[in-house]
Amino acid sequence: MDLESLGKEVKLEIQKAASINEAELIRIKHLGKKGSLTKVLHTIGNLPVTERPKAGQLANKLKNELAELIKEKKEVIKQKKSLPWIDLSLPGRKPNLGGLHPLSILSQEIQDIFIQMGFSVVTGPEIETEYYNFTALNTPKDHPARDMHDTFYLKDGRLLRTHTSPVQIRTLEKLSPPLRIISPGKCYRVDTFDPIHSPTFTQVEGLWIDKNISMADLFGTLDLFAKKIFGKDVKTEFFPSYFPFTEPSAEMWIQCPFCKGKGCSVCKKRGKIETAGAGMVHPNILKALGYEEFNGFAFGMGVDRIAMTKHDIDDIRLFFQNELQFLRQFDDSKL
Ligand code: DAH
Repeated sequence: MDLESLGKEVKLEIQKAASINEAELIRIKHLGKKGSLTKVLHTIGNLPVTERPKAGQLANKLKNELAELIKEKKEVIKQKKSLPWIDLSLPGRKPNLGGLHPLSILSQEIQDIFIQMGFSVVTGPEIETEYYNFTALNTPKDHPARDMHDTFYLKDGRLLRTHTSPVQIRTLEKLSPPLRIISPGKCYRVDTFDPIHSPTFTQVEGLWIDKNISMADLFGTLDLFAKKIFGKDVKTEFFPSYFPFTEPSAEMWIQCPFCKGKGCSVCKKRGKIETAGAGMVHPNILKALGYEEFNGFAFGMGVDRIAMTKHDIDDIRLFFQNELQFLRQFDDSKL
């Protein structure tokens, strides 16, 4: 076989070699002591003297070239081996994204509804003083209404706010009317932790102060809110009530969205569900702040209660147990 064909053949073999061992066998087969190319080199002595140098040069060049190629091939195989083996067929790992809690989602929804009606969102501290939580809200010491709230007191005399109503006072101290604000946030009361009570819960407070505000404005605002949250067919009813910081006071009940007023287990056969406390801001409060010429209404609602009604949940504790299976039902991002 001539040198050129031999070279081509060996190069092809080197290309195909899949292991270091195979590459070494190729080297022995062609470049070893009894290798095919070595044999060719040995026969050069038989050629006519004039042809010997050229033939020798060519054969040596090919020998070196092939030796180099085999060496490179071995190197490539060695490097491939040392790379970690990656199984490209394995399914990828999904990053676990957090999601919003159902109460945060609903609180945001409630805020959006009132923002559309021109309200701004403000917040207040969860640790309050007796002054803001009670006194400034027309509930002086020894007022029987203080007993309605079983309060967590701190050692220094401050307390965990029992409702979001103190934000009304804090806002009126900072901003002058006319104003329209809502304030979402956590509240605390000494309560058993059972299906319908929790020592911590979320409220949204509302306050609209201007001139010539009437109960009709209050009813209209809350009725529109109820229709946006529970659907446009929901019916609202207002009943007289009592709160020290409103006069007159009212409570809003919505027709049970599940039985449409017939009575079912969700509404405890009443056909309706209490949804918010409200009323015209007590003149004493406005007077103390120097706003005699204004009037307005306020309201407060329990976000947990609304969430339970909206999603037909019969145990408030589910909101605090953080079971992913429960939480995933409400969050679009599916965690
Ligand atoms: N703060 C009351 C409560 O927690 C709810 C409430 C009632 C808020 C009437 C108000 C209101 O602003 O006008 O029970």
